[in-house]
Amino acid sequence: MESDLSCKSAALRSHLYTTLEQVSAGQRVVIERHAAPMAALIPMADYWALMMHRARARRSKEEFMPTQRLVIANASGGEGKSTVARELAYSLALLGYKVALFDLDPQASLTKALGLHDDPASPARQEEATVSRVFSRDEPLPLPDPMPVHGVDVWPANDTLNSVDSILNNDFSRASNLREAIDARLAAMPEPYDFVILDTKPQRTNFLTASVAAADHLIVPVSGIKGLENLDILLKMVKVARGIAPTLKLTAFVPNRIREDVNHHKVLLEHLHGELSQLAPITPNVRDSLATMGSATELRLPAVLCKPKTKVSEDIVTMTRHLLGLLHVPVPA
Ligand SMILES: Nc1ncnc2c1ncn2[C@@H]1O[C@H](COP(=O)(O)OP(=O)(O)O)[C@@H](O)[C@H]1O
Ligand SMILES: [Mg+2]
Repeated sequence: MESDLSCKSAALRSHLYTTLEQVSAGQRVVIERHAAPMAALIPMADYWALMMHRARARRSKEEFMPTQRLVIANASGGEGKSTVARELAYSLALLGYKVALFDLDPQASLTKALGLHDDPASPARQEEATVSRVFSRDEPLPLPDPMPVHGVDVWPANDTLNSVDSILNNDFSRASNLREAIDARLAAMPEPYDFVILDTKPQRTNFLTASVAAADHLIVPVSGIKGLENLDILLKMVKVARGIAPTLKLTAFVPNRIREDVNHHKVLLEHLHGELSQLAPITPNVRDSLATMGSATELRLPAVLCKPKTKVSEDIVTMTRHLLGLLHVPVPA
């Protein structure tokens, strides 16, 4: 074991403040009683890694599943794409699945919400860390290595991803490159990801088409009527993307930021559960919770990790389990 600190249980009370400071700086502290280790204080990142590891070990080996590739998209902004992508990724990781998370929006709100842009010197701010290189040649270059964040492998975004659209506008044949690069990465992994989750940009451009075509399932978060106005645009794009991903399907609508007491949300839900349910199933609602989502953003952590007991985190877990059912993936107990 690396150099963990130790503290005698009798001394803990007087050293509590310094001990907690050490833990929050990333140290593990073993508490000793009668000269034997009896407990440990560990940073939360270690705790989450442990929870994910235990959940993964619990999932039996027989439950082999092919990688599920999910793209979160909506041709409108602010519907909750990045939030749903992040929360879904981490609730799946907590259930024991191995998860990859791609930020494919040059605005990088997902990357920022995970704190990866906080340090001006962060590699996440460099073009090399993004998927942009896979579009730089006719034959896709391999993906760069991901950045592990609390048990999930993340491919970050930054504004250099804007260049992908100029490349694809000149040569649309490269729109299949991201899908192919992900295929190659999965094929080279001894234990491939159970889930690949892609967060996308709202503008309907060729990069969005390439992003959607890298998945097999399209998940559409909707938080208002505006989020449905551009649905036909999204569906047209799915048709184009099917040229690259023939089995791509609209798998679910996720009602997000829902306040059931608000009239226009009642109208939205009626519309979703009426006419639109013929297009795709509707998951249970994720409620609107400014307090929880606000502090998650501030803490640079997914709500399911930092505020697991809140109603909105419970909604996210319920939505995730519902989605697993739609994907015919065995749901862990
Ligand atoms: N369920 C929710 N409750 C409260 N705020 C939310 C919820 N979902 C998203 N938000 C907030 O709404 C804003 C837009 O969400 P975001 O995920 O960035 O949308 P998009 O990626 O579609 O542009 C963000 O400030 C986010 O924190
Ligand atoms: Mg976003």
